[in-house]
Amino acid sequence: MAASDKIDSRLKNVYDNPGDKQALFDDWASTYDRDLVDDLGYVADVEACRIFISLVTDRQARILDAGCGAGLVGRRLKQAGYTNIHGNDYSEKMLDQARSTGAYRSLQQHDLTLPVASDQPYDAAIAVGVFAFSVPSAEHLVNITRSLKPDGIAIVTVNGKAWKEADWESKLDGFNQDYPDARLVDVQTIDYLTAEGIDGRLLTLERIG
Ligand SMILES: C[S@@+](CC[C@H](N)C(=O)[O-])C[C@H]1O[C@@H](n2cnc3c(N)ncnc32)[C@H](O)[C@@H]1O
Repeated sequence: MAASDKIDSRLKNVYDNPGDKQALFDDWASTYDRDLVDDLGYVADVEACRIFISLVTDRQARILDAGCGAGLVGRRLKQAGYTNIHGNDYSEKMLDQARSTGAYRSLQQHDLTLPVASDQPYDAAIAVGVFAFSVPSAEHLVNITRSLKPDGIAIVTVNGKAWKEADWESKLDGFNQDYPDARLVDVQTIDYLTAEGIDGRLLTLERIG
C-alpha cells in the first residue's frame, strides 16, 4: 500500500468512526506530523499561522491552540515570537507530542464539543485541522469563541472536502443570528492538503461583548 493510501485509510477511519476518533488519534500521534506534512502536503498550519500572525500582533497575547495535536501550530507561533501559548486536545498521546515541542505554557486534555474551562479568557485562539466532516462541527465553534475576551479573535480551518460534502455553508448560514455573542467575520479559501488537491476554508471569528 502506498504511503498516501495508508494515510487516506487512517483519515477515512477517523472520519467514519467519530466515536473512536480519540483512540484513532492516540494511535496516530507518533507519526502524525510526518505522515500529514511529508506525504499529504498538509499546509493548513502554515496558512493559518500566516493569517493569525497578521491579525494578532501582540507577541505576549494569551493564545489557545484548540485541538493542538502534535504541536505544529505551537512550534510555528513560538518561532514567530509568541510566548504565551496554551494547547488543548482530547488525545493524551497528541498532547505528549505537543509537550515535547516546548512551545506551550500549558496543555490540557479537552473535548472541543464541550465549553473550554480556563481560569482566564484568551486574547486569541487558533484551531487548525480540527473541523471537518463530523464532530466537532459548526455548533461547537462557540466553545472556542466563548473562551475569548471580548473582541478576541479565533482563526479556524475547515477541510475543503468536508466544506462541500458536509455542507458547511448551510451549517454557518445564520451563525451570527444564532450566536449573538460571536461573529463570523470572514471566510477565505486556503491551501490545505496540497498533495491531495484538497483546499480548505479559513474562518475568522470574533467574540462579541
Ligand atoms: C488533523 S489534527 C490537527 C492537529 C494540529 N492542530 C495541526 O494542525 O497539526 C486534528 C486534532 O484534533 C484533535 N481533535 C479531534 N476532535 C477533537 C475534539 N472533539 N476535541 C478535542 N480535540 C479533537 C485530534 O486529537 C487531533 O490531534
